[in-house]
Amino acid sequence: MKEIKLNNGVMIPQIGYGTYKSTTEDGYQVVLEAIRAGYRHLDTAALYENEEEVGRAVRESGIPREDFFITSKLARYALGYENTKREFETTLKKLGTDYLDLYLIHWPRPDYGDPDFDNWEKLDTESWRAMEELYEEGRIRAIGVSNFLPQHLKNLMKDSRVTPAINQLELHPGYLQKEAVDYSRARGIEVEAWSPIGRARLMQEPLLMDIAKKYDISVALLCLCFDLQNDFIILPKSTHRERMEENLRADEITIAEEDMKQIMSMQQAGWSGEHPDRETIKP
Ligand SMILES: NC(=O)c1ccc[n+]([C@@H]2O[C@H](COP(=O)([O-])OP(=O)(O)OC[C@H]3O[C@@H](n4cnc5c(N)ncnc54)[C@H](OP(=O)(O)O)[C@@H]3O)[C@@H](O)[C@H]2O)c1
Repeated sequence: MKEIKLNNGVMIPQIGYGTYKSTTEDGYQVVLEAIRAGYRHLDTAALYENEEEVGRAVRESGIPREDFFITSKLARYALGYENTKREFETTLKKLGTDYLDLYLIHWPRPDYGDPDFDNWEKLDTESWRAMEELYEEGRIRAIGVSNFLPQHLKNLMKDSRVTPAINQLELHPGYLQKEAVDYSRARGIEVEAWSPIGRARLMQEPLLMDIAKKYDISVALLCLCFDLQNDFIILPKSTHRERMEENLRADEITIAEEDMKQIMSMQQAGWSGEHPDRETIKP
């Protein structure tokens, strides 16, 4: 599988497995199945409440830890210097590992209604300082952010020592967040796509159905091919073995320039409604 070199030289597999909602015994089985299907890059988060299941699946697979690329994320309710250090230890303990490949700030702001909602600038820079220290101690191979728009990155980077390696954003046909992608890339930050299939909300889009038919592939696979051709790192999630395998083949298909352009110019579609500055934008 193709790997991408991050700005600190660390290599990351371009196709990862998303583990959102893979909880309890079922979640463990699904993640183990994904590993058996060939995934070595796993995306989890404290918020998903499945770090224990992901760690167990990694161990039970019998494959050495160092063959995996494991990402976890600091929840938005735990921003701040001390909280970040403590949450990181909890994450490692739950995963049953002594290092992370990638640690991300999950969202730039506490949730709407949190007393610290307007204190995000200070909290983000404190969390980042804690993550920089953990990175410099060799406990995390790369550090980054998720759902950071230009204003959030600008604040984070104003006094930082380490440039984020990754910005993980919602990206799929119909929701391309061009400004955030361009801003990240101009600073050497690689872009990862969450919900790269649009959580199946795009399956009935007539344009995507037409183009997928032309290549004799599913709309889901078309979305993934499109994402890869835009040089995004993708984190598709499926609970079905055959779809897990199908999604791993997304790099074997080339979408023609004219079709890419048509998908690029689609109206906004399939957006989850989740926005980093929740008080200003409603779905
Ligand atoms: N950073 C963040 O804030 C954030 C937010 C959300 C998600 N994420 C990450 O991104 C990952 C992926 O996002 P997601 O889980 O929201 O959505 P997604 O991967 O875009 O879509 C998942 C949906 O697509 C279906 N699907 C997958 N492959 C398919 C195929 N080949 N054919 C037809 N249907 C297919 C799945 O159904 P079946 O299971 O039935 O196959 C499921 O309903 C998450 O698991 C998580 O790791 C990050």
